[in-house]
Amino acid sequence: MPLISPSLLSADFLHLADECKMLNESEADWFHLDVMDGRFVPNISYGFPVIAQIKKTTAKLFDVHLMIVEPEKYAADFKTAGADILTVHIEACSHLHRNIQQIKLLGMQAGVALNPHSPVALLKDIIQDLDLVLIMSVNPGFGGQSFIPHSIEKINQLRSLISESGSHAKIEVDGGITLENAKQIVEAGADVLVAGNAVFKSADPKATIAALKNM
Ligand code: DX5
Ligand code: ZN
Repeated sequence: MPLISPSLLSADFLHLADECKMLNESEADWFHLDVMDGRFVPNISYGFPVIAQIKKTTAKLFDVHLMIVEPEKYAADFKTAGADILTVHIEACSHLHRNIQQIKLLGMQAGVALNPHSPVALLKDIIQDLDLVLIMSVNPGFGGQSFIPHSIEKINQLRSLISESGSHAKIEVDGGITLENAKQIVEAGADVLVAGNAVFKSADPKATIAALKNM
């Protein structure tokens, strides 16, 4: 059974407390929080004050996806705001090993995200250190885009790399996940499904979360 991490990017920000209540009553495992800086990605989302407020509503694990340059400048602040897992983009980190050690020293689980163009093989010498690998199945920056089919191949490759290396990293997939394609993604080897639009724009978000989990 996959873990489900709904992306708050698609939530109704005017009724954020209600959206958090819904997630808390649902079978969602984690809260997925997308942070965008307008530099690494062509969009800006939300930051520390919003994340810290949402944290007060829940005991569920905070899965923070940083789409920002120079994440090392802010890692401690994300810990303070409530991050349990902090994921940085490989394309944004010249010193990825140092970034990962910093995140762990701060007491968080460490994740690395790959854009659609970044090969899984780039992780060969860091996979042992990771708690999570996030395969972006759309180009980051926006919710509601279509799943890129080649991502399935990348999930397969990552599953092999993880078993060959003995890494305990979880595989998370993010972007364009729907009730229609979720089963195929889990069968390819995903441990965690992120879903924004599929959950928050559905008529019955709790039922959609349950359906994603119990595929
Ligand atoms: C995109 C974000 C995703 C996004 C997913 O840059 O990383 O987490 O919110 O949204 P959907 O599920 O609508 O593609
Ligand atoms: Zn995300």
